[in-house]
Amino acid sequence: MQQKIGLFGLGSIGRSIAQFLLDSNHDVVIAVDRDPEKVGSDLGSLVGRGELGLEVSEQLDPRIASDCDLVVHSTCSRFRDAFPQLSNIVETGCNSISTCEELSYPYLRNPGLSEQLDILARDRGVTVLGTGVNPGFLLDALPAFVAKACKRVDSFSASRVVEASLRREPLQRKIGLGMYPEEFAAKTSKGSMGHIGLFESCALISTAMGWKLDEIKQDISPVIADNDIRTDYFEIKAGQVRGLRQDLAGMAGETKIRMYLEMSAGAENPGDSVMIEGDPPVDLFIKNGLHGDHATVGRVVSHIGDVVAADPGLVTVLDLPTNPHGARAGLVRDTRLTGSGRLL
Ligand SMILES: NC(=O)c1ccc[n+]([C@@H]2O[C@H](COP(=O)([O-])OP(=O)(O)OC[C@H]3O[C@@H](n4cnc5c(N)ncnc54)[C@H](OP(=O)(O)O)[C@@H]3O)[C@@H](O)[C@H]2O)c1
Repeated sequence: MQQKIGLFGLGSIGRSIAQFLLDSNHDVVIAVDRDPEKVGSDLGSLVGRGELGLEVSEQLDPRIASDCDLVVHSTCSRFRDAFPQLSNIVETGCNSISTCEELSYPYLRNPGLSEQLDILARDRGVTVLGTGVNPGFLLDALPAFVAKACKRVDSFSASRVVEASLRREPLQRKIGLGMYPEEFAAKTSKGSMGHIGLFESCALISTAMGWKLDEIKQDISPVIADNDIRTDYFEIKAGQVRGLRQDLAGMAGETKIRMYLEMSAGAENPGDSVMIEGDPPVDLFIKNGLHGDHATVGRVVSHIGDVVAADPGLVTVLDLPTNPHGARAGLVRDTRLTGSGRLL
């Protein structure tokens, strides 16, 4: 049966998810965003897919939401900001998948709110998941899955180098393109610079491995332009910031998990890597890296069926099946070889 899907948050990611859902004939029944420029407009027209007859509203209508199977939430990165929005969705008896970075492992920074949301979701019989590409896949679910082929894992190292000039405007802004180094340093010292989600990826891996970490250390530094660079959204002069680097170490006495993230305009050798020291050792490299925005849409949409079918509560990507797009065991068993080599 086709699920009825709602969309809460129609920024760059919400709109890309909307386009993909509409192009793949999903039944989109709710569109919410607080941006006055979007409120009142037709969702189809907003995402370039022609009039749909579905108006963007500022608030979630509980009557319509209660008839919806799942709401895709994409408004913010901090769980404490997402909490009231997700609680409203869950209250209506609707499942939810969110791209909120901290929700990928919410217990790390907000154990009390996580507990509350988990209790509410169980009470309403629905499931809530935080996912995306990073966190939610490349630096956590993927390495954890790869480790299933190892007899022994001593340590992990995962890295992602992103050519940021190909990414959406909010991401380019978030990584400080065009800032002066002093402004970057001041914002970093206040904790308002840097990608959110590396800590959560580290916590997901340690959970997957059953490791108890004593400390997670992180260092954030700017990447400075040697020459002028222009992206679709920013002009960066030589001497200004063209991106950032984040180094993270998850310690249990020694370093067990190391992560490196670089997002910069003009990044050298973009790509995603997973290295495992163990038996057998693993050295995996995805040349050019996964396109983060497209892969986030893929992660969210391919988990819709899993989340609707999952046991109620607040879950992580580690709790869900790894099969893409509903390829469930029953369907896999339906593939039969005939004598002629054709498949039934
Ligand atoms: N896990 C991952 O891999 C991953 C990948 C991609 C994105 N993300 C995260 O997903 C979130 C969405 O990304 P984005 O690029 O689409 O962000 P965005 O362009 O800033 O869009 C967010 C949209 O949500 C709206 N909004 C915010 N709070 C709201 C509320 N309380 N009620 C209704 N609407 C609200 C915003 O309106 P205003 O503009 O008026 O505030 C905006 O239109 C970001 O936090 C991003 O970091 C995670």
